[in-house]
Amino acid sequence: MKSDKFYITTPIYYVNDEPHIGHAYTTVLADVLARYHRLFGQRVFFLTGVDEHGQKLKEAAQAAGQDPQAFCDRMVGRFLATWKKLNITNDDFIRTTSDRHKKVVRHILSEIYRKGEIYTGQYEGWYCVPEERFWTEKDLMDGNCPSCGRGVKRIAERNYFFRMGKYQDWLIGYIQDHPSFIQPATRRNEVLGFLNRPLGDLCISRPRKRLSWGIPLPFDPDYVTYVWFDALINYVSAIGYDTDDSAFQRWWPATYHLIGKDILTTHCVYWPTMLKAAGIPLPETVFAHGWWLIKETKMSKSLGNVVRPLELADRYGVDPLRYFLMREMVLGQDASFSEEAFRGRYDSDLANDLGNLVSRLNRMVASYFDGKIPSKGGRPAVNELVNQTLRTPKGVKELVEGLKVNQAVETVLNLIRRTNKYLEDEAPWKLIRVDRERTAGVLYNALEALRIAVYLLYPIMPSKMGELLDWLGVSPSAVRFDQDLVWGKLTPGRTLSDRGALFPRIGTKEIRVPIGKQIKEELQEMITIEDFKMVDLRVARVVSAERVPGADKLLKIKIDLGTEQRQIVAGIAEHYTPEDLVGKDIAVVINLKPARIRGVESNGMLLAAEDKDGVVLVTLDQPTQSGTKIS
Ligand code: MSP
Repeated sequence: MKSDKFYITTPIYYVNDEPHIGHAYTTVLADVLARYHRLFGQRVFFLTGVDEHGQKLKEAAQAAGQDPQAFCDRMVGRFLATWKKLNITNDDFIRTTSDRHKKVVRHILSEIYRKGEIYTGQYEGWYCVPEERFWTEKDLMDGNCPSCGRGVKRIAERNYFFRMGKYQDWLIGYIQDHPSFIQPATRRNEVLGFLNRPLGDLCISRPRKRLSWGIPLPFDPDYVTYVWFDALINYVSAIGYDTDDSAFQRWWPATYHLIGKDILTTHCVYWPTMLKAAGIPLPETVFAHGWWLIKETKMSKSLGNVVRPLELADRYGVDPLRYFLMREMVLGQDASFSEEAFRGRYDSDLANDLGNLVSRLNRMVASYFDGKIPSKGGRPAVNELVNQTLRTPKGVKELVEGLKVNQAVETVLNLIRRTNKYLEDEAPWKLIRVDRERTAGVLYNALEALRIAVYLLYPIMPSKMGELLDWLGVSPSAVRFDQDLVWGKLTPGRTLSDRGALFPRIGTKEIRVPIGKQIKEELQEMITIEDFKMVDLRVARVVSAERVPGADKLLKIKIDLGTEQRQIVAGIAEHYTPEDLVGKDIAVVINLKPARIRGVESNGMLLAAEDKDGVVLVTLDQPTQSGTKIS
């Protein structure tokens, strides 16, 4: 039986780093998973925190002219503020300089030492200060650190070693027997590949005279603990290992340690062997996600391409940032971050699909039903929309449990798109003239599909979806997945307060819409009738038109679609004057993604043909009601 508890962790971030989009990604992902599992009815514990010891920290504190502890106390604020702003619902925040953590580190060290798993020996090797690790002669690349490329120092000193090598065969067997221990499979293979070579013992101490900023070894105060040995233990110290047995039993083993692929070896080789030596069961899954790249390159301070999450959240809002991070990264693979992609995603999914659905429903309920959620009466027989709505929660749950968050998001967005399509098919703006009861049913159905979609997007965009749930008169708290995410729970009669745009459009990059291009033979592929139906073609009457200043070919045209008026931009100014156009019934594609053309918003595209004599508009040969579908 699947356990009803869910314990999820993020890496603890180096406290002196400035929080960037990579840190934000892992933490938002953990938060989204934690929120989903709460929605599924599980008991959840979500841990994050900071890593505060080691040489780099010591040096950064010195450079800032502060004592290391005071420095950490100051720096930790940036992480706390970032997580607060990004709406992170961690249950605990662990600091490695806290007494509760240091106590557990010392306890585990004493235990392992007592069992004879730690010995002292002479260590000689090449030491990389920034990476805080030793390398052998053959590891070096051109005499430099193979990991970061910086210079290394020759160091010989007496140190303490953990007998990690003796666990090599056991670890290989464990990984082979537990396919879900390291995920995704590519990372599992990477670790198994690493374990093909002999596994040495791990140097777990640093002489205090060289590095004083660490946890002293309980059995030799002249040494401090190696920073990774200290840091990994946070996952058990935070939940009361050796200090609060019932809490520890409640939460351990962790369901997921989420990490970036950069820290695979420490989590999949050091950590399991440390736990084995200490007699503690292993976590269920270590999941390593990919990197956020900035246009294919790694983010780094020296390249000046570091993306700061708070700046993005200030500019576009916290929820769109969370949405983008979850929607764009296929878990396990690298993803590329660009502000342009961010804006595109925002406009197409949030402003267009979701935002439009809400504003349409808001408008129609206000004008046809006095702002009140209409009764279910007159609902058309069970239809595709109802079926899809009923399938969606289960589908999302399975995808989230399989760590396919981007697909889960897409599944909900598909429901939203389906609901928009349903409205277009049922056309309540026409139906209201002939059948009020059926119109009520259509709007009820659309609102009900929206309610379920909003519940399912709540873990991703808690603040905006919270507003929407409130608007619909339902509560985000105490929601029961199996009882509340079913059809027909929305109560008719409640007034929907008039609300402004949920996600105001930000406008994507200028896109030139070519018109009347001759169809090239090589592009003539066969399409199905379903493909064709995806293009929503309508009759539109031109209300007004004017030239776009500074653009010889462009006209800005206002069109009437019966239920709404829109603006489109078309490259026909060399062939038509504004006066030629007014009053004409033309053919327009209305479900084309909005674009800005020379800075002017275009919400659709007219049809025209171009031959050697110029451009000719596609028009209707008799006056036709605006908004009529062309098929
Ligand atoms: N302190 C160690 C972790 C100890 S855990 C017991 C550490 N800290 S870190 O500040 O460098 O954070 C590394 C983590 O930040 C990565 O594993 C990943 O979760 C996240 N990211 C940092 N840069 C990233 C990207 N560019 N893209 C995605 N996530 C990355 O290592």
